[in-house]
Amino acid sequence: MIDNLGDFKRDYYTGDLTENNIGDEVRLLGWAESVRDHGGVIFINLRDREGTIQVVFDPSKSPQEVVEKAKKVRTEYVIGVLGRVERRPAGTENPKIPTGNIEVIGQRLLILNTCDILPFQIEDEINVSEEVRLKYRYLDLRRNSMFKKLLLRHEVYQKTREYLAGNGFLEVETPMLTKSTPEGARDFLVPSRLEKGKFYALPQSPQLFKQILMVAGIERYFQIAKCFRDEDLRKDRQPEFTQIDFEMSFVSEEDVMAISEGLIHTLFKELLGIDLKIPFKRMTYQEAIEKYGSDKPDVRFEMHLKDISDIAKEVEFKVFKDTIEKGGIVKGLTIEGGASFSRKEIDDLTEYAKKFGAKGMAWIKVTEEGFQSPITKFFTEDQLQKIKEKMNAKAGDLMVFIADVHETTHKVLGFMRKHLADKLNIVPTGRWDFLWIVDFPLLEWDEEEGRYVALHHPFTSPKEEDLPKLDKALGNREIATSIRARAYDLVLNGEEIGGGSIRIHRPDIQEKLFNVLGISKEEAEEKFGFLIQALKYGAPPHGGLAFGLDRLVALMTDSESIREVIAFPKTQKGSCPLTDAPDYVSQEQLEELGIEVEIPQEEEG
Ligand code: AMO
Ligand code: AMP
Repeated sequence: MIDNLGDFKRDYYTGDLTENNIGDEVRLLGWAESVRDHGGVIFINLRDREGTIQVVFDPSKSPQEVVEKAKKVRTEYVIGVLGRVERRPAGTENPKIPTGNIEVIGQRLLILNTCDILPFQIEDEINVSEEVRLKYRYLDLRRNSMFKKLLLRHEVYQKTREYLAGNGFLEVETPMLTKSTPEGARDFLVPSRLEKGKFYALPQSPQLFKQILMVAGIERYFQIAKCFRDEDLRKDRQPEFTQIDFEMSFVSEEDVMAISEGLIHTLFKELLGIDLKIPFKRMTYQEAIEKYGSDKPDVRFEMHLKDISDIAKEVEFKVFKDTIEKGGIVKGLTIEGGASFSRKEIDDLTEYAKKFGAKGMAWIKVTEEGFQSPITKFFTEDQLQKIKEKMNAKAGDLMVFIADVHETTHKVLGFMRKHLADKLNIVPTGRWDFLWIVDFPLLEWDEEEGRYVALHHPFTSPKEEDLPKLDKALGNREIATSIRARAYDLVLNGEEIGGGSIRIHRPDIQEKLFNVLGISKEEAEEKFGFLIQALKYGAPPHGGLAFGLDRLVALMTDSESIREVIAFPKTQKGSCPLTDAPDYVSQEQLEELGIEVEIPQEEEG
């Protein structure tokens, strides 16, 4: 029953057939998307990666044995058809598909393979769990909507290579089996068989190698690089993901940003037909945090954070007053039309705020009749009016407030701002709001570790004018956190799609920074000794950036998650339902590596 392909060759992809082909005899190959028997006439929708076309097996036009064979075809059988392209009879056109005005009258049919009962239909709109989609990823990817995403991703690779190579960048591969790199996540480790007890780390990014390539005089490097980070997964995070990574010598921030803008402009223009306005807007880190509560603000909508600390310090409400006295701040959001929120909606919002570390959430409704809130009694009418003015609120609005230390207040309100915008459906669609975030602080105090950590990574250069502060940073938190970095992030519609910096190229400055970061000479030597040494052999000034390719493609294809644009992604738990990775390995393999594994009780059996 199964035919051989033999020398049967495809003449056209179905999607390439048009009315110009009417009268042509064509050979097609693909899958039977649907099979219908209308009183002895068999209709098969033949699908290949470029589209579908209706093939008709009609006893009055097709050989009888071919019609009989067509009756045996089932959904997703692999078939080959030789037939004649005809205009569809008037009234039977299908405007839903591009080939809807024509059909192919089958003259020969090959059945090349059968197909088991499908776990889900191969169509764009399906309602199955992601787990099942990933287990049968080959069927999932057979869907046209998924093919289109992979196609755009492919085009992004090609255009990126063309653009960067065209601008003098050299594509260089860097190792996957390497030493721990400093992007701040946990490493994935690979045991060494030849040197038992030792491990390679998979790269969190090519950061150190690309800097070394600059010392090597490559001048302009790029790579479409796989990166590995063992962190908690979300919709925009995968344990292995792809960067468009590049580095340049003898440059300033402006040069790196211009190349980045040129690349993004090219991708959007040539792949989506969108002519973005460059240069992109810029915002300082400080403004982003104060106005939006985030270093990746979604500026498609306003709803700015407003500071009412100066009024809050005067009020009777202890929560506010005490917070200010302890050096904290009180800031809030005005929710347009929010006075209609129910008590439950407000309670839910409070719980949401608490999830991000808030101790509570104060709220005041502004109505035609006046202010409504359990806490109005702690405010004078004058104070309430002042708050309303500061919050830019009017009758019908709801004002919500968080009182806490700077960081928590901004973080909580930043998340609430996005949450509310989604809830109220006020985020405009069809916009591409690119924004550079600049003037990042170099250092951040890490409460848990009790030391400063680099906000970007420890090879990022401080601003020239802030260099002298490095000597005074230890022991003075104000000075330390006021040092600005030569770093920049590119944000699109509230998502960080890329980040980079001008690096430290002088070993003396690098050592000073390690010192501030509490990384001892020995530790630095052990971890990044090879880089520090390289810097001593004539390292040119250099800098670069890396785009998160998955995030970029997800945004370009309007996908819910980056998993939609990765051929074989991991689940939220980091597993692959298709292959069942990660998995246990044999005792022999472990012994060869000199590894003993203790399997936690609950995971056994
Ligand atoms: P950074 O750590 O900011 O910089 O990473 C660059 C970009 O990579 C994307 N990204 C991710 N995408 C998917 N899953 C993840 N787990 C993930 N983590 C990061 C983001 C991010 O903006 N070496 C530096 C770059 C440089 O300084 O040149 C680096 O890796 O879109
Ligand atoms: P309480 O004094 O705990 O009864 O809180 C009174 C109101 O203030 C409640 O609505 C709390 O949710 C709110 N609240 C408590 N702590 C904070 C805070 N840190 N910031 C803003 N509102 C708060």
